[in-house]
Amino acid sequence: MALVTTKDMFAKSMNENFAVGAFNINNMEIMQAIVDAAAEENSPVILQASSSAIKYARVNYLMKMLEAAVEEHPNIPIAIHLDHGPDFETCKMCVDAGFTSVMIDGSKYDFEENVALTKQVVDYAHSHGVVVEAELGKLAGIEDEVNVDAKDAMYTDPIQAEDFVKRTGCDSLAIAIGTSHGAYKFKGEAKLRFDILKEIKQRIPNTPIVLHGASTVIPELVDMCNKYGGNIPGAKGVPDEMLYEASHSGVSKINVDTDLRLAMTGAIRKVLAEEPNVFDPRKYLTPARDLIKQTVQHKIRDVFGSTNKA
Ligand code: G3H
Ligand code: 13P
Ligand code: ZN
Repeated sequence: MALVTTKDMFAKSMNENFAVGAFNINNMEIMQAIVDAAAEENSPVILQASSSAIKYARVNYLMKMLEAAVEEHPNIPIAIHLDHGPDFETCKMCVDAGFTSVMIDGSKYDFEENVALTKQVVDYAHSHGVVVEAELGKLAGIEDEVNVDAKDAMYTDPIQAEDFVKRTGCDSLAIAIGTSHGAYKFKGEAKLRFDILKEIKQRIPNTPIVLHGASTVIPELVDMCNKYGGNIPGAKGVPDEMLYEASHSGVSKINVDTDLRLAMTGAIRKVLAEEPNVFDPRKYLTPARDLIKQTVQHKIRDVFGSTNKA
């Protein structure tokens, strides 16, 4: 099975009503933690790298480490995906480097420009056997003060979504229903527009739906960072119950980065605070890797429902 596109895992997710976790990678420890967790859960998994992650880790290193991950875990499907591809050139570079999936994020452009750019990437990727995720709607934090009309303009319009998928031929679609990136997603109560998700699913039932900005911002991990010298006040994410509902109501891919960052930072801070004499990186990177693995396993098993769906 090994390295695959997301096609079959998404087909299964839509048939059997679960979501596949897409976890951001930046280095070896994070990659190992994710694939080890997925293998223990016998779950499909998507590893995704942003263009800044590629710049940091370098594409050759990422692809060689991926080769090792796939070799160690031949029984689970693993996809390698470009997260938030900013332009055609970056998507092409990743296709050429062996990525099995790319995202072209044209959400910052107007509708027609987004269609044209996405179509250009789809044509190139498909001719190389690679699948494409596109985005429609604005994911920026939807603040309480923003008036209703402005809020509605940011959410994905289900009618436009149908037209967009038809015209671009994209394989999956990231939608805006109230999530946002990072550790500060909601000022007041968390709220997702499940009504919009439902309408989108009715209009494009065969298109896998993707949720970005979907970290829980796990309170225990925030507390851990803060307890050992961090300063991340008022952080708030999407509660697990809402992600569980999304995973079981038609969302096929759920993106997680912030929770992994919190786990890594929390674990490292704890070791360095409790053992100030430590200067061997393995002494703090080992617990960091363990905590990321635990975090990924919890999501797969208790929230996304992809255990034993490999
Ligand atoms: O949605 C963005 C991801 O969290 C990646 O962030 O560009 O800092 O790697 P990054
Ligand atoms: P979070 O910041 O909520 O983890 O979202 C990550 C993401 O959407 C990556 O594309
Ligand atoms: Zn994202």
